[in-house]
Amino acid sequence: FDTANREKYRPTYHFSPLYGWMNDPNGMVYKDGEYHLFYQYNPYGSQWGNLSWGHAITKDLVNWKHLPVAIAPDALGTIFSGSAVVDYDNTAGFGAGAIVAIYTQSSDRQVQSIAYSTDNGRSFTKYENNPVLVSEVCDFRDPKVFWHAETHRWIMVLAVGQEMQIFSSPNLKDWTFESRFGEGQGAHGGVWECPDLFELPVEGTNDKKWVLLCNLNPGGPFGGSATQYFVGSFNGKEFVNESPSKTKWMDWGKDHYATVTWSDAPDNRRIAIAWMSNWQYANDVPTSQYRSPNSVPRDLSLFAADGEIYLKSAPSPELLKLRDISKKRSFKVSGTRTVKEMIPGNEGAYEIELTIKNQHADIIGFRLYNDKGEEVDMQYDMKENKFSMDRRKSGDVSFNENFPTLTWTAIESGRNELKLRLFVDKSSVEAFGDGGRFAMTNQVFPLEPYCHIGFYSKGGSYKVDSFVVYRLKP
Ligand code: FRU
Repeated sequence: FDTANREKYRPTYHFSPLYGWMNDPNGMVYKDGEYHLFYQYNPYGSQWGNLSWGHAITKDLVNWKHLPVAIAPDALGTIFSGSAVVDYDNTAGFGAGAIVAIYTQSSDRQVQSIAYSTDNGRSFTKYENNPVLVSEVCDFRDPKVFWHAETHRWIMVLAVGQEMQIFSSPNLKDWTFESRFGEGQGAHGGVWECPDLFELPVEGTNDKKWVLLCNLNPGGPFGGSATQYFVGSFNGKEFVNESPSKTKWMDWGKDHYATVTWSDAPDNRRIAIAWMSNWQYANDVPTSQYRSPNSVPRDLSLFAADGEIYLKSAPSPELLKLRDISKKRSFKVSGTRTVKEMIPGNEGAYEIELTIKNQHADIIGFRLYNDKGEEVDMQYDMKENKFSMDRRKSGDVSFNENFPTLTWTAIESGRNELKLRLFVDKSSVEAFGDGGRFAMTNQVFPLEPYCHIGFYSKGGSYKVDSFVVYRLKP
């Protein structure tokens, strides 16, 4: 296949396959200085099908090296989503330090299989006694496995219909059912998929809590697929949600799905990546050489607000390495204020860092736009305490009726200072408010890059204390 880029919408700094279809990130594991990214991959075309695990590695989360397909379909079925671990203690007998992939195989049923690599993921051997876990249930998939030190065994979280089931194993081969989680918890507008379970410190305290990521399709806040999460405790058997009455979303855009995190990341980091699309229209987006990319990597942490614990998604610090030339400005906005040339040589890959001080404005607005009349309009509504992003006029929105949307999230009331980072690439806008207290990820397909920005105020003025635009290196 021709892998020279033929796509005007191909992102410059987000990961995308050179050729073919991609959905969920899979098997993310760190070993010997390499972050592995496997992914749901159709190597033969740019629509969903022929699912295999594609493979790429990065040493710095921003520069990727593409590797050949790691795991291909066999008689047990195509290769659906799953995870990977490093078996340092050789519990499975494949060799100390083997990377073991645990994944779903799909045929007329869904079963869990394993494969191992003793050459740092360059080649995988399938276990001869696959599958290792079967069921009569039809949606039985996406195993996330991790080592639970306290109980000295492997734990698997599996998405089963509209619940998560937890299993344990001494050796990655024999699995015992432990518990189920889901009834009466969170959003249930669709099937639960792609779980993750990990512990994180709560900022500013000595507390730690467990987070259960739960991808849901459909039933997201703006339709289609989205990532919800639960915060609570895990004792090696059971996950308990400490706030059952609340539904929490990890990202408030439409294109943030199948989010999972890297195992064994250095420095106790918990780094997540999402598939940057939505099952409502993933097969229809206006690209053809590939579909679709991933989000930027995000470092996760927990913070407390209004007696609740929430997940914070901050752009990973490695993204700072992408910064090229920059331009800084500050000004007051009373009415409108346009910045015609945000940054010289703007080819549609840039970051905006904004600090705004409100001076009684009801609406703090800004829109990224181009000379074709296409725009992405963003607003802080200081009366309703909301941040919104409107892509209804962002460019090509006609390929699917579910694409043109306005997404929004609540922000804390009474805010005076607002901080926002926007990551713009050829076909996406990702907003991170207040260091990641909210995130919003949306795809866009403009005819040409948004080179201009227009600030506006309603009902009062505001001060843009700092408006910095960085061109981002490919
Ligand atoms: C989520 C998902 C998973 C499944 C995979 C198949 O997007 O539906 O549940 O394993 O995609 O490609």
